[in-house]
Amino acid sequence: MSTGTRIVRTLEQLRRQVADWRAQGLRTALVPTMGALHDGHLTLVRQGLRRADRVVVTIFVNPKQFGQGEDLERYPRDEKGDARKLKKAGANLIYIPEKAMIYPEGFATTVSLAGPAKAGLEDKFRPHFFDGVTTIVAKLFIQAGCDYAMFGEKDYQQLKVVTRMAWDLDIATAVIGVETVREPDGLAMSSRNAYLSRNNRELAPLIHHCLTDAATAIADGKPAAKATSTVRRKLTNAGFKVDYLTARNAETLQRLRSPSEPIRLLAAAWLGTTRLIDNIAV
Ligand code: PAF
Repeated sequence: MSTGTRIVRTLEQLRRQVADWRAQGLRTALVPTMGALHDGHLTLVRQGLRRADRVVVTIFVNPKQFGQGEDLERYPRDEKGDARKLKKAGANLIYIPEKAMIYPEGFATTVSLAGPAKAGLEDKFRPHFFDGVTTIVAKLFIQAGCDYAMFGEKDYQQLKVVTRMAWDLDIATAVIGVETVREPDGLAMSSRNAYLSRNNRELAPLIHHCLTDAATAIADGKPAAKATSTVRRKLTNAGFKVDYLTARNAETLQRLRSPSEPIRLLAAAWLGTTRLIDNIAV
């Protein structure tokens, strides 16, 4: 039964609503977002509704996870459009905190991880990123106190990092990974795809196709290093500036040591001024 979609902006309102639901024996799922929602986010809402009775979506463009010169200022914002989409997807509560609700005057805490957060992937190219993510996600987990939290596999390293953080800090919110949602041509959905020029939008799915080719080659017995360097070259020749395209242990994200490890291929590459990331299981 739909209960409508309510928007709240204060921690007190958020806590009261989640506590009410808990008192009724209802289970809750959290979907943290930075807004500019697409079908990938809405899939997280739908998956949340399959696990829990109520879904809470947070919208907060977190300044702490943007480095200098990154796209904080131009990051797309569309609160009305987001609310409309969330209503349609069946979200029950939208929490849109002001900056001071998250980082009040004098805020002095950073949640910082080693392990998957220092795997030499996103962290190598965006050194500030995971401290920003883990600090905000820890806050949102603690503020909302939901039973589950839904994260897309598209940000695979982020998924591993927040899973590790929740485990290490005994946070009672179970982190659930949800498969990447793709456009019909294979491009992983992302709010940043909106930045792509028409030409680059046509070229962008190549990153997924290259990962798929490399995964097939590895599954057929080709050494991972060879398979990844072949497709890295292909991307570079097509005009991508590749930050990394690599095969890692799917659980720890460390470099491969034995042929029997579960493998994840992960890539980040620039097309013009847009940075795309993607990954795939072997
Ligand atoms: O994946 C994102 O959109 C962000 O990193 C998150 C998890 C909402 C934290 O700001």
